[in-house]
Amino acid sequence: MLDGWRHRTAEAGWILVPLRGFLAVVYLYGGIYKLADRRFLDATSPLSMHASVEAVRGTSPVGGLLGPVAAHSFGFGVLLAVAELAVGLGLLVGLFTRVAALGGILLALSLWLTVSWGAQPWFTSADLVYLFAFTPVLIAGSGGVLSADAWLDRARDAHPGVGEDRTRRTLLAGGLTVVGAVLLGGAALFRRTPRGPTARSAAPTAPATLSAVADVPVGGARKVTDPATASPVWVLQLQSGQFTAYDAICPHQGCTVNFVSPGAGFACPCHGSAFDSQGHLLNGPASRGLAPIPVVVDGTSVRTS
Ligand code: FES
Repeated sequence: MLDGWRHRTAEAGWILVPLRGFLAVVYLYGGIYKLADRRFLDATSPLSMHASVEAVRGTSPVGGLLGPVAAHSFGFGVLLAVAELAVGLGLLVGLFTRVAALGGILLALSLWLTVSWGAQPWFTSADLVYLFAFTPVLIAGSGGVLSADAWLDRARDAHPGVGEDRTRRTLLAGGLTVVGAVLLGGAALFRRTPRGPTARSAAPTAPATLSAVADVPVGGARKVTDPATASPVWVLQLQSGQFTAYDAICPHQGCTVNFVSPGAGFACPCHGSAFDSQGHLLNGPASRGLAPIPVVVDGTSVRTS
């Protein structure tokens, strides 16, 4: 019976090679990218891990757990990158393959609960697809195909005194599992919780005061909460006395965009979409620009019209 199981997993091992390779490349790329991109670990950058966490906290179903992540975003950012590298390496060389797959599942789950939570329809979330893509590898492992685990087993069988201890490997596997689990918290910050359509898009709203004129800097912007929709809105005064406003919700998956500068416009901390100061899309993955919100100056206030 054991031989039959081994035979089946070996067959599955060959079948899973393309999937293993793809997931390995994606996670190795993700880990390297995070460590190589200074903005990711720079808490002052609108594209940083810190900005992502702050953007997610108010809307994610696990937002209440993200306080420590926001407070230590540098450490969690490094941890997340290392965890992704560990998952990618494990899948690539077939080392602790099932543990690596479990780590990948925990990562994808974290991202789904945060950044991808608002994907519409829900089954279009890429993180949900990644989560299930890991499950065949979790069940079958490497099947001994292109596998450092199998090589170590053969070395141990050939040299009982050298290949030794499964205990050490088990402890290492446990360590990787811990990394994967921590990744659940760390990854949660990497993406942000999506929102559903805003109240503004669902129905006309009554005029509402967004900000005092004096609170919006000339040549700058101020983020406010629209009292009519409870949605974040950016109010801009690019030239003295000329006010514009845009929905701060990224049209990709619902993160709150950050205002960078009049020249650079807006940046989404979740997946890097960028918009100019007029809300036009500069680069995706968002497929459209920020929704403009008509505003007028009413005495000393800026309000929706
Ligand atoms: S939510 Fe994905 S780029 Fe903004």
